[in-house]
Amino acid sequence: MKKIIKNGTIVTAADTYKADILIENEKIALIGQDLTDPAAEVVDAEGNYIFPGGIDPHTHLEMPFGGTVSKDDFETGTIAAAHGGTTTVIDFCLTDKGKLLQNSIDQWHAKSKDKSVIDYSFHLMIGEMNDSVLEQLPSVIEDEGITSFKVFMAYKNVFQADDGTLFRTLEQAKKLGALVMVHAENGDVIEHLVNKALEAGQTDPIYHALTRPPEVEGEATGRAAELTGLADSQLYVVHVTCEEAVEAIAKARKKGYNVTGETCPQYLVLDQSYLEKPDFEGAKYVWSPPLREKHHQEVLWKALKTGDLQTLGSDQCSFDFKGQKDLGKEDFTKIPNGGPIIEDRVSILFSEGVKKGRISLNEFVDITSTKIAKTFGLFPQKGTISVGADADIVIFDPSVERTISVETSHMAADYNPFEGMKVTGQPVSVLSRGDFVIKNKEFVGKLGKGNYLKRSRYGELTSSKEELYQK
Ligand code: URP
Ligand code: ZN
Ligand code: ZN
Ligand code: ZN
Repeated sequence: MKKIIKNGTIVTAADTYKADILIENEKIALIGQDLTDPAAEVVDAEGNYIFPGGIDPHTHLEMPFGGTVSKDDFETGTIAAAHGGTTTVIDFCLTDKGKLLQNSIDQWHAKSKDKSVIDYSFHLMIGEMNDSVLEQLPSVIEDEGITSFKVFMAYKNVFQADDGTLFRTLEQAKKLGALVMVHAENGDVIEHLVNKALEAGQTDPIYHALTRPPEVEGEATGRAAELTGLADSQLYVVHVTCEEAVEAIAKARKKGYNVTGETCPQYLVLDQSYLEKPDFEGAKYVWSPPLREKHHQEVLWKALKTGDLQTLGSDQCSFDFKGQKDLGKEDFTKIPNGGPIIEDRVSILFSEGVKKGRISLNEFVDITSTKIAKTFGLFPQKGTISVGADADIVIFDPSVERTISVETSHMAADYNPFEGMKVTGQPVSVLSRGDFVIKNKEFVGKLGKGNYLKRSRYGELTSSKEELYQK
């Protein structure tokens, strides 16, 4: 059914203006003043902002990790995402060395297809580079529309790839039109520091942070950046946490290298002291890279403002405190790494960023949606409010004040790392391709309604939009 959203203030990465939006056949059909159509349902957005749906470029839904599986799956995870104003997620498809990439991709399709309530896509992990992988990559891009490859520089003996693999992936990405993403921490050095800590009997959650100091992130970020320059390729550094890594990215950008970076809400508002909470509660804040000393937060905010960092991901990878995090009660290395973040990503950036004057309203839209769509081959179908774009729309009340709590959140994990945090602003209603997923803060969507998105090659626009949809 057609809809007209009336009386709201449309905010894109470039403009802020009052206008009505006509939605027809899943798309934005018209933007103008005083639109009327007797066949359309009228949605009143008086007093609210209208944002393009948020895009979360970094999720791990139902992912096997650390001897368990992340708690939120494509059902609870995407419902929570929608409540939080996100209408597209890009999840990391893990691969196994020596096995066909397509097997892993099929597994990821199987766990998302009938569950996701919003549109979704995948990045692909590259753990090794050899003739077989080289042969498979063109079809990953052509047939699956997966145009971003993730290389882990950490998690030794689990996901970690060597520098040769990273470099060859950068070369291939350049050749094929894909973007390389890195988890930048020096996994070899971390392994050594972890072993030393365990030998000294240091088993509490805080040692997770102390054995992965900012230097190992800064070093790996700089290494990946230099290799990108050498390969004349393109790099996106996920979950940047610290001054050392921001400096490495800024230095590479000054040299003209195509290096970009993402941070996450947890690094903007939480700090390393959370890992010292008593009664093993610090485990709730164990993820990699770890939370940092507070002074890093202003560096990250500044980098978002100046553009040395471009995007905000959630790195959603949730585990229950009871039954999952406590696998590491006697040994911090056994605490599954990750947290429930997907629902609060957009609101935290609005409240802490826009409301506190650190970034503008338009920069907020750019960082949570537009820049992500452009980076990952989804623009202009996603990431903006313009005629012809998908009607992925967030109607956002900028004045409501609330307190984040596990009691009111929709993620499946049994705690919220932002518990007790006061924020201003909340999505009221959220549309995915013209249909309400959230209406007046209630979930009204349908499991499996989300489409799998084949993405364009790096740097290319989504030209033929129909082509992108494939169930
Ligand atoms: O601790 C984290 N970040 N867990 C998810 C996997 C990753 O490294 O992104
Ligand atoms: Zn990571
Ligand atoms: Zn420091
Ligand atoms: Zn991650």
